[in-house]
Amino acid sequence: MGKKRVVVIEGEDASPEAVQPTVALIDKLNLGIEWVRPPVGDAGISLHGSAFPEEAREAIDESDATLFGATSGKSAPALFYLRWGKSTYANLRPSRWIPGYKSPLAKPEGIDFVIVRENLEDLYLMAEGDLEELRPLGLTSLTARRPVADMGPGRFALKVITERGAEQVVRFSFELARRRKAKGRPGKVTTATKHNMLRQSDGLFLEVAQKVAASYPDITFESLIVDNFAHIMTSAPQKLDVAVMPNLYGDILSDGAAGLIGGLGLAPSGCYGDSYAYFESAHGTAPDIAGQNMINPTATLLSAVMMLDYLGFVEEAARIEKAIELVYAGGRVLTRDQGGTASTTEFCEAIAENL
Ligand code: IPM
Ligand code: MG
Repeated sequence: MGKKRVVVIEGEDASPEAVQPTVALIDKLNLGIEWVRPPVGDAGISLHGSAFPEEAREAIDESDATLFGATSGKSAPALFYLRWGKSTYANLRPSRWIPGYKSPLAKPEGIDFVIVRENLEDLYLMAEGDLEELRPLGLTSLTARRPVADMGPGRFALKVITERGAEQVVRFSFELARRRKAKGRPGKVTTATKHNMLRQSDGLFLEVAQKVAASYPDITFESLIVDNFAHIMTSAPQKLDVAVMPNLYGDILSDGAAGLIGGLGLAPSGCYGDSYAYFESAHGTAPDIAGQNMINPTATLLSAVMMLDYLGFVEEAARIEKAIELVYAGGRVLTRDQGGTASTTEFCEAIAENL
């Protein structure tokens, strides 16, 4: 295996405090990963007058993957490039409860599902405008029974689902369900859509999923209306395996899924395209605890585990994951969000000892 090159974008506020020890931990494994740290956000502005200079884009293009912290906005142009520029269409957000995670549920045992969030379309086009702009289209609301433009003054946002966009993320989800089934999971894909109201857009997402499902007879297929999905996810999460859904539902429900197992400090994610992937915690930058060495780095560490897997360091990924499990099972060195008193540094030292 050739040497791997990984771009690191630390992000803002408390985010670098989770990213730096994660990189240090991986370095202990001597995988020969070359870390590249292009100037992004404030560093980009002071060096090149741009939050996402050419140098950063090139660094990403020449790398095998990116490890991204979290952004309050300053590194957002880099994040947008990692999504839309690199076509990372499948945002995989796993929720697996492990003993020691401080879940608010009485019985979190057995929670092990993944939300696959479509990452590029839906309401994330940032195509919004004034209702007047719709007048020439003569678009009519089926519920209000009048031209949408006549409802104003007001604004609209476009929700777009394409056949290709839906198909690639649904296929990704079925392939994932197959790999998980090989490791003992039930082999099930659930879609969450509002196809009873959004008959055209979410209706297409579901239609595409039904077609793809037909070519995976070994995988159970289930379609839920997204509000019902939210109920099942919170009342019987053990029933879920792989859940695929349009972008915004996935954004919202993956934060909810993180809450189920014990909070955003535990929620990793990986965004995959056909030729690139980047990895980031699902959480934000936690400005309230910035500079206090108390952020829970588990989400970032587990994102890095997903990254090592992607880069082919499968055994090493498993070693870090095991070390994290041991520290939680021990229950002695936990960060504050998990009911402990350990600093970020102490927590990471405990992980290193268990490697
Ligand atoms: C996430 C975040 C982002 C999103 C923000 C920072 C744009 O909430 O990764 O879930 O909405 O996708
Ligand atoms: Mg989010």
